[in-house]
Amino acid sequence: MQTLIEIVTPARAAEAAGRLLADAIEAAVEGTGACRLAIPGGSALAALPFARARLSSLSWSRVRLTWVDERCVPVGDPQSNRGAFVRLGLPEPGLVLPLWDVGGDDAVARFALEFRQKFAGGLDVLLLGLGEDGHVASLFPGHAALLETGVAVLVEDSPKPPPRRISLTMTTLQTAGLGIILAAGASKHAALRRVMAGEAGLPTSALRRLTIVTDLDMEKSDG
Ligand code: 6PG
Repeated sequence: MQTLIEIVTPARAAEAAGRLLADAIEAAVEGTGACRLAIPGGSALAALPFARARLSSLSWSRVRLTWVDERCVPVGDPQSNRGAFVRLGLPEPGLVLPLWDVGGDDAVARFALEFRQKFAGGLDVLLLGLGEDGHVASLFPGHAALLETGVAVLVEDSPKPPPRRISLTMTTLQTAGLGIILAAGASKHAALRRVMAGEAGLPTSALRRLTIVTDLDMEKSDG
């Protein structure tokens, strides 16, 4: 895993991550004519408006958007990651593929079929948050879902509420050329140290290329 680290102040972290995200989107669009982007819920989503502001309407129209994970709730539920995107008030990009739409037992299978058809079964860029336990998406260290090899997986016992979620699998996350992690604040520092150390068993350790935007300066921090 190749990791770049951009150290910024917490106040500048979302803007810095947005700049990197816009650059990655532009590079994918220039390379293939589109950018297959997956975004999270939580605080990392704050990078997206900064990225959108740096993109042309044409580039944004070439974005194919899905989520790295989604809570199994209606889009109007405050816990919905897609709902959090809608509440940003951004125009929709060229294509949006919800991870959880009308639900049902076949939700994972239906998503996998559409993902293969509309994303060619892969991703270009991930925007990720980082849980204090080192999770990304809804893939928690030590959880059986980490070992799934399909497109997506239903997680019914997420340690982070709500318990029922759909997550892209590591297999799918690993198709992305770049993962951008936005994780700032003291509560993230322990997990960041583990990520930067490439700790075996962490989802991030299996990603191809990571850029971490954080306020944690490993050289200055104690231990
Ligand atoms: C989710 C997110 C999840 C999130 C981390 C960090 O649906 O909960 O996708 O992976 O990114 O839990 O969340 P915060 O950045 O809000 O702490």
